[in-house]
Amino acid sequence: MANDEENVGNVKKLLARVFELSLQATVPDETDVEPIVTASTVGRFGDYQCNNAMGLFSKLKGKGGGQFRGPPAVGQAIMKNLPQTEMIESCSVAGPGFVNVVLSNKWMAKSILKMLLDGIDTWAPKLSIKRAVVDFSSPNIAKEMHVGHLRSTIIGDTIARMLEFSHVDVLRRNHVGDWGTQFGMLIEHLFEKFPNIEAVNETAIGDLQAFYKASKQRFDDDSEFKERAQKAVVRLQGGEKRYRDAWAQICAISRREFDSVYKRLKVELEEKGESFYNPFIPSVIEGLTNQGLVEESEGARVIFLEGFNIPLIVVKSDGGYNYASTDLTALWYRLNEEKAEWIIYVTDVGQQQHFEMVFKAAKIAGWLPTEANKYPRTSHVGFGLVLGEDGKRFRTRSTEVVRLVDLLDEAKSRSKAVLEEREKDKDWTKEEIDQTAEAVGYGAVKYADLKNNRLTNYTFNFDQMLSDKGNTAVYLLYAHARICSIIRKSGKDVEELKKTGVLSLEHQDERVLGLHLLRFSEIVEEACTNLLPNILCEYLYNLSENFSKFYSNCQVIGSAEETSRLLLCEATAMVMRKCFFLLGITPVYKI
Ligand code: ARG
Repeated sequence: MANDEENVGNVKKLLARVFELSLQATVPDETDVEPIVTASTVGRFGDYQCNNAMGLFSKLKGKGGGQFRGPPAVGQAIMKNLPQTEMIESCSVAGPGFVNVVLSNKWMAKSILKMLLDGIDTWAPKLSIKRAVVDFSSPNIAKEMHVGHLRSTIIGDTIARMLEFSHVDVLRRNHVGDWGTQFGMLIEHLFEKFPNIEAVNETAIGDLQAFYKASKQRFDDDSEFKERAQKAVVRLQGGEKRYRDAWAQICAISRREFDSVYKRLKVELEEKGESFYNPFIPSVIEGLTNQGLVEESEGARVIFLEGFNIPLIVVKSDGGYNYASTDLTALWYRLNEEKAEWIIYVTDVGQQQHFEMVFKAAKIAGWLPTEANKYPRTSHVGFGLVLGEDGKRFRTRSTEVVRLVDLLDEAKSRSKAVLEEREKDKDWTKEEIDQTAEAVGYGAVKYADLKNNRLTNYTFNFDQMLSDKGNTAVYLLYAHARICSIIRKSGKDVEELKKTGVLSLEHQDERVLGLHLLRFSEIVEEACTNLLPNILCEYLYNLSENFSKFYSNCQVIGSAEETSRLLLCEATAMVMRKCFFLLGITPVYKI
């Protein structure tokens, strides 16, 4: 999906281009051979390898011959036909025709130095799409914003950041649940408690979740109230002012609460809630009906989909619309009005079937191509549960739900306590302590979530995520700060060194670190196109490990190689910072 012309940072893509030329020379009659280039997992034989020989050999054999005796011979030919390039130091053929490539040290060093001068954005992946929607966070009005929404917020933000870095215009959509029958009871309860509605403000209502509970109680206990609530829904949907105003007020209160979480996490979102799509629903359903997709079933209107044992209900038996009607319409809107080419939904795995059904309906309707990887396309990014220490769904002792704001507060205050324990308050300003505590605390919460494959459940544990050992944000942030301090201690002006200095990768550990730095672009692209932030986390952790090894075996300050090594330190810090940025983590510069 990438545009190779501009992928200067993506070593894998650059090599693929070289191998493409070789393949054309090796088998000129085969026109559709895509080069298969991968990074080598065992560095012993090379840095990258081309794995085309075996498949190509079978293909030629299938066509009744070919000039090769076996896959190794194909590999030999691919190697022989490689054009001259400064990227490659040497090649060898191993096993059934794998062509191993050892990159040239000189080229590697030169590329890193170029990145130092031109900036890390030159290593950004280039994707073939222009615009994407990331639908994430999306809590429900008047209900708790729970840890599942926190996961969606963190994962969705990272995906949006990776796409934005890759030059995609991202519409960050907060698809809040701001519509539905629950508003009838909320509004009636509001009128009951506050006859003079104009005078009501946020503090008067207090805790909106408690308010929700109380109105639900009324709804369940009192049939007369229930009836009024049901009528209120109709009046709200009919657009009656008093009802619209009450609804808007309830939404505004919830929104303020959500925003306090987003602000802390530094997450940008644009709200286009369920209600936004209401006006478009009837015509979208009509269109699907005209195409013959919608059928009557038990009073409801549904779409039957092959492979699913339940139909997708698009109009309920009472004539009302539901979650699916809204999602179908939102998809239509995003494709046709917003011209998004990739629409990504971040929710818990529990909603997977819902999205599969919506996507399938859209394919049958011809809104989306049926081929899996063609654009426009949709993806559901599912994630597992957050568990407590007891292995059950995460809850706190005092309340049944975990208030996200409390969670973030605790992460911050814990990391602040550590800083104070280390007596940082002696030479840091109050502000510095505060900012560092926030960066470390919130970073820890985010990283603990992102580092696992999102589909697995993970256990929420403050001690673990705030530990300065192991694969944690704290460890990584400290590692970055340490690199910054090495550079500071050298007393050298790195900006000057970038312009005048020379970088070389003579020592084995310098080379390993350099190679890892050069893999940044392909890793971001992989994490981004597969929608798997944990790939980037793993990269970052390994980067930090490779740096440690380099630093313990290669003296930096005062050595003959000081300039080159300081440049390598700076490049590592730059790549780390970009990783932090993509993960939504604020870096710290001193510890
Ligand atoms: N409000 C939903 C929930 O809390 C999530 C919405 C996800 N986005 C969507 N387009 N359905 O579960």
